[in-house]
Amino acid sequence: MTRHFLDISDCSATDLSNILDDAHAMKAARAGLPKGAIDPSPALPGIMLAMIFEKSSTRTRVSFDMAIRQLGGSSMVLSAADMQLGRGESVADTAQVMSRYVDAIMLRTNNHSTLIEMAEYADIPVINALSDASHPCQILADLMTLQEHKGDLSQLTLAWVGDGNNVANSFLHAAPKFGFALRLACPAAYASDEDEVGCAINAGANITLSTDVREAAAGADVIIADTFVSMGDADAAERLATLAPYQVDGALMALAKPDATFLHCLPAHRGEEVEAAVIDGPQSLIFDEAENRLHVQKAVLKYCFGKT
Ligand code: CP
Ligand code: NVA
Repeated sequence: MTRHFLDISDCSATDLSNILDDAHAMKAARAGLPKGAIDPSPALPGIMLAMIFEKSSTRTRVSFDMAIRQLGGSSMVLSAADMQLGRGESVADTAQVMSRYVDAIMLRTNNHSTLIEMAEYADIPVINALSDASHPCQILADLMTLQEHKGDLSQLTLAWVGDGNNVANSFLHAAPKFGFALRLACPAAYASDEDEVGCAINAGANITLSTDVREAAAGADVIIADTFVSMGDADAAERLATLAPYQVDGALMALAKPDATFLHCLPAHRGEEVEAAVIDGPQSLIFDEAENRLHVQKAVLKYCFGKT
């Protein structure tokens, strides 16, 4: 059966833990090598990854491209707008055609339903590279980064501050799998999806909802922010106004534990969701977080091919 990677909630805790262990091991194994060098024992020689983008990307695009190269495979980058998909060819036909040419598909899509349909009709692995509903590869990289800097995830309290968006949803998916406590501080207008919250709680996660950023940040190990206006959001002015009080600044960081860290998946908007002094300060882990996209996605690719 084809093994896709669509959401963290679809995977077992053991598989997720193995993916992170493999990512750490692969990162350590290639220390000192040029970034373009193939891994010492490449796991996916000959594998061709097609990367389809309906939206912009820097990190996801470059890290997946380097990931498959380091694993011994290769990639092609496709803009959905330039494919017949952009002129209305069905996702089902596209999935079946792509399955005859390439070995795996990575898809960044506006609508999560496109991802589900692609996976349903493709007989090769399909990987979620961000949808309107989730961003699982990002959260695995975030968790890998926290393991490096903080150790056991199950002992941590993470505070998400701002928009209850796609990235927040993947933290909700991860919370019951890894056992960290998750506080979400979002305004009512941009609160996380109730079903997503309900699923996390039903799966045993320790989730706290609030509209009070100070309450969420108090004593937390990690404070996390994301853009107030995600790709595809139409109501930018309204979002910026409503979410302004949810900016992560030095005063908010001071309420967290003294050794608390700051995460942001990037791209960031200094002066909007986060103060420059925080994101560019000593508590910020943003570039480790970005680097770990590469290592974790190598492990995700191996997982899809039964090699993790
Ligand atoms: N964090 C992230 O997914 O970045 P890109 O949009 O640049 O891929
Ligand atoms: N929430 C953001 C994440 C970007 C990586 C967006 O969807 O635009």
